[in-house]
Amino acid sequence: MKDIGIAPSILAADFGYLMRDIKQIECNADCLHIDVMDGHYVNNISFGIPVIQSIRKYTDMKFFTHLMITEPEKYIKAFADAGSDNITFHVECAKAPFALIDEINALGKTAGVAIHPDTPIEDVFPFIGKVEIILVMTVYPGFGGQGYLDMSDERLRKLRKAIDEKGCDTIIAVDGGVTEENIRRIYEAGARLFVAGSSVFHAEDPAAAIEELKRCGISS
Ligand code: DX5
Ligand code: ZN
Repeated sequence: MKDIGIAPSILAADFGYLMRDIKQIECNADCLHIDVMDGHYVNNISFGIPVIQSIRKYTDMKFFTHLMITEPEKYIKAFADAGSDNITFHVECAKAPFALIDEINALGKTAGVAIHPDTPIEDVFPFIGKVEIILVMTVYPGFGGQGYLDMSDERLRKLRKAIDEKGCDTIIAVDGGVTEENIRRIYEAGARLFVAGSSVFHAEDPAAAIEELKRCGISS
């Protein structure tokens, strides 16, 4: 992973032209963020396994599947077989998270844990060094287009400190409300992978929007 990575979230794409929208960003993005919602863990339903299978045929992008679902253990193999490269589940939903990580890795995929804004950030500390990414939700999960929660800065700083103290390369990813205006500050708080839905796919030129996010994130 480069110092700063942008993961466009297809939740903000036009599903009627999904592949067209993905093609617009595939050369500039670092990976594709795929939001799966089940109507139970979150009050929204997005899409599932068949959609991932379909888009997998037309791009080599790295797929990061963000499972906002209860009972993720039931569906890990299906999401792996559909073409996910990373499978990230919510720490609030997994009954046996370390077994789940082992299962994901045994399927040849990398694992991630996501954390809800209301869950103490310390709850993900045991996963440092055990997963590829820790995905800190910076909006309430369920919908795109929300504003970044300011309280996230402090949570990110705590997590950054814990990771650095352990000397691990676990990537801190943030999800929700990332814009050109706030990306530098979120970077300074410790994040290195930035999920961006609206600020990429609602831009006139999504590829240029990614480059602009990177530029704003790394310039002092
Ligand atoms: C929210 C999703 C996010 C969402 C981010 O539950 O997990 O990935 O797509 O969208 P923006 O960038 O619009 O906040
Ligand atoms: Zn997401």
